[in-house]
Amino acid sequence: MCQNEDIIYGSDAQIALVRRALALRRFFRDDPQMTFQGRTISWLARGPEEAGIVIDLCRLQGYASAQFVARTDSRSFQNAYEQAGLIPIEWDQFHGRDSAQKASAEFLATYSPPEGLRLCSVTTNTPDDRIHALCQMSSENGVLQPPGSVMRGDGPPGIILYVETDSGDVVATGGGFMAYHPQSDRRDEAFWGMLATAPSWRGHRLARWVGAAAIRELTHRFGARGFSSGVKPDNLASQAMCTRLGVTRSDRVYAGAIDPELTGGGSPTR
Ligand SMILES: CC(C)(COP(=O)(O)OP(=O)(O)OC[C@H]1O[C@@H](n2cnc3c(N)ncnc32)[C@H](O)[C@@H]1OP(=O)(O)O)[C@@H](O)C(=O)NCCC(=O)NCCS
Repeated sequence: MCQNEDIIYGSDAQIALVRRALALRRFFRDDPQMTFQGRTISWLARGPEEAGIVIDLCRLQGYASAQFVARTDSRSFQNAYEQAGLIPIEWDQFHGRDSAQKASAEFLATYSPPEGLRLCSVTTNTPDDRIHALCQMSSENGVLQPPGSVMRGDGPPGIILYVETDSGDVVATGGGFMAYHPQSDRRDEAFWGMLATAPSWRGHRLARWVGAAAIRELTHRFGARGFSSGVKPDNLASQAMCTRLGVTRSDRVYAGAIDPELTGGGSPTR
């Protein structure tokens, strides 16, 4: 599903969530603890004492997470969210710095993609039909993509890549953004991932190709030195793919909260 004024795919609740994020981000953009990962606004919390800020943000937006949370603090965040009537949702934070750059460069130096496939990046000139195809495929596989406007550059510095066949089907996508404020101590970190491969094309290392190319681009174009992604504990495919690229399970989590009244309670993405 999409809306005319911007290209946003997902359920009605996901589309409404992204639209609230777009509306809210102007009010937060000068705060070094604010992070906009292309889809939603979240918070670089200093510790569980800041759970209240995440709760307020969640009530405004419908979802919010505390980023780079020590695993040992996860329970405190969850308790605070539950007491506020919100639904906790957690992703393991996979993270890599030199390991990610090294693994990506090594992979790209030797990988030969299946014949007929092309790796493309979204630019300001990418036609709507490419963005629709990319979002459609990603959404069918449970991964929320940023709105078309953000993919085309109206957002944090970053890149969205996609793989297309010679008949124009989009079969894999992903990317990353410099999601943290220039004055934050995470300023050289990218939020990376949003990877999805069409089921019939899985196992050809397309996600690894897109993921590695995104790491290379984020490094060379935007000076990224760290790469992190949220992965659910039951998503073995994503864990394997991230680990191959040197982005490995860390001792941190994304401690998220969902407002059931605003969103119906569903997860914002996989
Ligand atoms: C995760 C996903 C993007 C992987 O796509 P893919 O193109 O099949 O992945 P790749 O072929 O690039 O695999 C990369 C590595 O992960 C491994 N891997 C992939 N799927 C796996 C699985 N189900 N179990 C174990 N390992 C797996 C591959 O063996 C490969 O390792 P290798 O290169 O050493 O052989 C795909 O399964 C998908 O779209 N899932 C649904 C959306 C999703 O969960 N996205 C991630 C959100 S965090």
